[in-house]
Amino acid sequence: MFTIVLALVLVLSSQTEAQLQVNFYRNTCPKAESIIRQEVQRAFFRDTGIAPGLVRMHFHDCFVRGCDGSILIKSTPGNSAEEDGPPNAGTLRGFEAIENAKARLEQECRGVVSCADILAYAARDSIVISGGLGWDVPAGRRDGRISRAAETIDIPAPFNNLDEATRAFTKKGLSSDDMVALLGAHTIGRSHCTSFSNRLYNFSPTNSQDPTLDPLYAIQLKQQCPRGPNGNVDPNAVVSMNISPTISENSYYVDVLKNRGLFTSDQTLTTSPDTLSEVRDYARNNIKWQVDFSEAMIKMSQVEVLTGNAGEIRLNCRVINP
Ligand code: HEM
Repeated sequence: MFTIVLALVLVLSSQTEAQLQVNFYRNTCPKAESIIRQEVQRAFFRDTGIAPGLVRMHFHDCFVRGCDGSILIKSTPGNSAEEDGPPNAGTLRGFEAIENAKARLEQECRGVVSCADILAYAARDSIVISGGLGWDVPAGRRDGRISRAAETIDIPAPFNNLDEATRAFTKKGLSSDDMVALLGAHTIGRSHCTSFSNRLYNFSPTNSQDPTLDPLYAIQLKQQCPRGPNGNVDPNAVVSMNISPTISENSYYVDVLKNRGLFTSDQTLTTSPDTLSEVRDYARNNIKWQVDFSEAMIKMSQVEVLTGNAGEIRLNCRVINP
């Protein structure tokens, strides 16, 4: 009995994967990919922060109810949506680029291209525009109709240790190797000071700052994230992820080896021999990281996707269909 169930599960899960296809809109909306790319480019030239914003938004979408575009749904008076959950509130960037792409796609081919797919393409285009390697995006995702702030608990937190972070990924069918490769996304973008200020001030009863943080880097971060008269850092203050926050390359791993990982969850990669050796490999070999990152992104972008007749094709990415 168990063997039959297992065989069924394997067949079903391979079907779900097989249902996403590269060039999915080839016949139904041939300009879809180019329209999305143009909108990402337009947004990027106005604000380079859009690229990291879209990559992170895709990750946060996939970790809550799968890559179903649920992160794009706006809260309503009766429902606090994912965008207002603790990891997302006030820190997401790139909604406008998705909305602009969607508006053009609805003109071009109404009701065809899902918001979940737009986000997956936009994340790939964001990496490419930042100088990273591209990949073919398997598509055909459908949009979810549910978005709950409380479910953002599935998104790993910056204060996670290696076990906690790894568990968040394995829960989504992603391996520790995938996680190490994906975390290289922290080579682009920014962080609010509040996401890591616990490492700078009152860290523990014995250490005022995190001893695993390079002391010189800590001085710099404290200058960028000073405490106000009330003892708190400014909730709007931000710092760059590293010295080249618009370029997608392996510098993240070089930083981690120098104890300059911004979050506990970054620095924690040095705490096990396996993850440390991967960090060393990626720090030495940018191409290897680019290839592994692309593969891991393709895998992440297929987490718990809705396909076939499940869900819907939202007409407005920010609102579920009536
Ligand atoms: C253990 C896993 C992870 C944790 C704990 C984590 C945590 C964070 C935090 C706290 C920020 C700063 C947000 C802010 O304050 O504005 C951030 C930014 C970012 N994260 Fe992650 N992250 C993780 C994994 C990932 C993955 C897998 C990706 C993509 C594949 C990713 C992509 C990004 C990007 C691009 C930014 C910059 C966003 C921007 O500039 O707007 N992260 N992450």
